[in-house]
Amino acid sequence: MERPHSGSSVKRTNWVLAGVTVSFFGMVVVLLTNTWGRPNLRTDIPLVDPSFLDTTASRKSYSDLVRDKEDVSDFDCYLCHERGVKPQIKFDANHHVIVPEEHANIVLGHGSHDRNNHCFNCHNENNRETFYIRDGRELRFSESSTLCGSCHGPTYNDWEAGAHGRTNGYWDRSKGPAHRLDCVNCHNPHSPRIPSRKPAPGPNSLHPSPPKSAPTH
Ligand code: HEC
Ligand code: HEC
Ligand code: HEC
Ligand code: HEC
Repeated sequence: MERPHSGSSVKRTNWVLAGVTVSFFGMVVVLLTNTWGRPNLRTDIPLVDPSFLDTTASRKSYSDLVRDKEDVSDFDCYLCHERGVKPQIKFDANHHVIVPEEHANIVLGHGSHDRNNHCFNCHNENNRETFYIRDGRELRFSESSTLCGSCHGPTYNDWEAGAHGRTNGYWDRSKGPAHRLDCVNCHNPHSPRIPSRKPAPGPNSLHPSPPKSAPTH
């Protein structure tokens, strides 16, 4: 009868362990070198176009130009206009304002059927450097959002509550300031309709379907 753990039994165990170790190493090599060439199921996910992540406003307001020390000569009305003289607004046969050459950059198209097409609905006819609103207040150029709000009450309330427009900066005000964009940062006051834009891409599932294999027949 053989005693347990005899010399030959231990030897056999060592051979088996060595064999298992070698075959595991073999499998590792096969795995790392991708010997059987299994297709890589992950396809590259394209990055989002950075223009969709850009938070800069589409327009610079009067206040932005002043802050950035840029050219504000367009707002220097009395460079050309004479104080105390009311400009005569001229209309064509269809009652559209005829914009003089000096203001050719202004395209007036505010509201369907040009319902807000009179310069002095907003500008002050007695002082070119201010706005004039229906409750009788005069506003500076930097207060244009209040001007818009004098006719667009509901949208203005949405804007104040943060439901219309956009706030840039920090949610957590202890980390840094937040800045609510003015109406004229997005809307051109003279033609406020927002031009159509390229739609942003849909959400990415992160589980792309495997590449289509070639038809087998
Ligand atoms: C580069 C010169 C220039 C500047 C700067 C200028 N204007 Fe004028 N503007 C003119 C001329 C010229 C006319 C046509 C003659 C007139 O009515 O006095 C005109 C006409 C107007 C009219 C009448 C428009 C129409 O359709 O008949 C308004 C309103 C007006 N300007 C407002 C302003 C305001 C507000 C500013 C400042 C924010 C300003 N302008 C700055 C030159 C200028
Ligand atoms: C004197 C009144 C008045 C003021 C001030 C005013 N709006 Fe309007 N706005 C109107 C009217 C009227 C319409 C047309 C509504 C309609 O057709 O149903 C309109 C329409 C619009 C529209 C819809 C697009 C379009 O053209 O139909 C936008 C956007 C707009 N305004 C933005 C502004 C902004 C921004 C300001 C401030 C710079 C402003 N409005 C100031 C009277 C005003
Ligand atoms: C709906 C209100 C509204 C009407 C109507 C309007 N404006 Fe303006 N206008 C503004 C606002 C608001 C600004 C300042 C916007 C900013 O901060 O960038 C402005 C700026 C200007 C400027 C200086 C900047 C520039 O764009 O050249 C001139 C000049 C001007 N308006 C002339 C006119 C004339 C002329 C008319 C009539 C043909 C007119 N506006 C009609 C609201 C109006
Ligand atoms: C961050 C940009 C942004 C700001 C700031 C902003 N708007 Fe708008 N607004 C938009 C866009 C985008 C639309 C949708 C245009 C469309 O549907 O074609 C819109 C639509 C509108 C409309 C027409 C639809 C409606 O709600 O009746 C009005 C009027 C308007 N805005 C007024 C304002 C006023 C007034 C302010 C400031 C108190 C303001 N907006 C600030 C981007 C802005």
